[in-house]
Amino acid sequence: MPQSTTWPNAVHRSLPDLLCWLDGLRRRGQVHRDDRQRCWHVLGHPEANAVLADHRSFSSDLRDLLPRREDLAEDDLPDEMELFQRGNFVRLDPPEQHRLRGLASRAFTPRTVAGLAPRIAEVTTELLDATGGRTRLELIDDLAYPLPVIVIAELLGLPAADRPMFRRWADALFDREVTDPEQPLTELAAANTRTAGPVLREMNAYLLDRIRACRAHPGDDLIGRLVQVEADGQRLADEEIVGFVGLLLLAGHITTTATLGNAVLALDEHPGAVAELRAEPALLPAAIEEVLRLRTPFPRLVRRAVTDTRVGDEVIPAGAVVTIWLTAANRDERVFADPDRFDPRRAPNPHLAFGHGVHFCLGAPLARLEARTALGILLDRYSDIAVATDAPVRHRDPWTMVSVNSLPLDVHSR
Ligand code: HEM
Repeated sequence: MPQSTTWPNAVHRSLPDLLCWLDGLRRRGQVHRDDRQRCWHVLGHPEANAVLADHRSFSSDLRDLLPRREDLAEDDLPDEMELFQRGNFVRLDPPEQHRLRGLASRAFTPRTVAGLAPRIAEVTTELLDATGGRTRLELIDDLAYPLPVIVIAELLGLPAADRPMFRRWADALFDREVTDPEQPLTELAAANTRTAGPVLREMNAYLLDRIRACRAHPGDDLIGRLVQVEADGQRLADEEIVGFVGLLLLAGHITTTATLGNAVLALDEHPGAVAELRAEPALLPAAIEEVLRLRTPFPRLVRRAVTDTRVGDEVIPAGAVVTIWLTAANRDERVFADPDRFDPRRAPNPHLAFGHGVHFCLGAPLARLEARTALGILLDRYSDIAVATDAPVRHRDPWTMVSVNSLPLDVHSR
């Protein structure tokens, strides 16, 4: 296993480095305490499932991991963090999480989402038409980034034209390098607070502006409905809507961008699978699930133990920080036969890329539809798609997110 002192700069780290490091962790037990990182690691699939299913014992509220206000400089903007956290229900526990999630859930049911299919296909086609028949595509810039951001911005009622700004925020928040993967999570959280502060300030101000404008003239979009909604007899405060909309805006595109890039990379590595998909397009949804299993965008989730709880053979004590490695759980050989093999026909495929339990990804139906539509159109339109060999593929730091930032492709139209 590589030693932390020899870690190269994160830009040189790749998914195989993460997998090798996780194999080393797994040898210490599917559930074990790590003194250096001062946390518990959960690597096995049944164990990860159990932790994620038990929100009473494992809280998503990590506020007390953040640095204390008195330890921060003025510029670190603890208030901005707090403002963003108010409606950011992925970091809240029930009943608060349940109340806020309920307000958005109607917009994301499989049925409502299915109604977006024509628009998703239309945007995909427009974006590919805009490449003007070029034979060199930059998958992320040309399609994988703009498609989901246009869709989520339209759902929320934010101008899609502001997307360069959204991308800057997402990059600042998700392109962080984990300088030492074995550093304690509390230190990581402190460093993140410092770098995230200025971006959150800009994002909060922008969203507050949009929310206030919307209160004056509510439209028929999600922000318009949120400003009018009464939840438990109370109106949502503008400040509460900020984190809520920010969560949907960021979660609603960055992961789908990652999945489209990851799918094209996986297919490039498995030409046999591409031939199968072309011959049998009905396989596409299962192939996308397999991409999510093997290139899980969020490699880990974090929880805080509330009570002493047995997980597998260990008892995780109250107060412990718990890192649930989705990347490792999704390759658990006790659940997935031949776990490193890309099998577009794998069934069942109970991967945890969308999480599990009360926080199960709200946008999963949308992400699946976007991925299916965009990949289906790509395969239809181009008889040949190959990752370019004369230009770099840029990866994000896989400890933060398994995704590419740029993916040059050579394509040939039918
Ligand atoms: C392939 C794409 C996606 C992946 C891999 C993904 C992954 C995840 C994961 C792992 C969680 C659980 C977090 C936790 O338990 O702490 C989550 C939650 C969430 N996701 Fe996604 N996501 C994707 C796409 C989307 C999209 C398109 C949206 C659109 C709105 C979205 C919105 C959300 C929201 C709002 C939550 C929080 C749910 C809650 O806390 O109740 N995600 N996602």
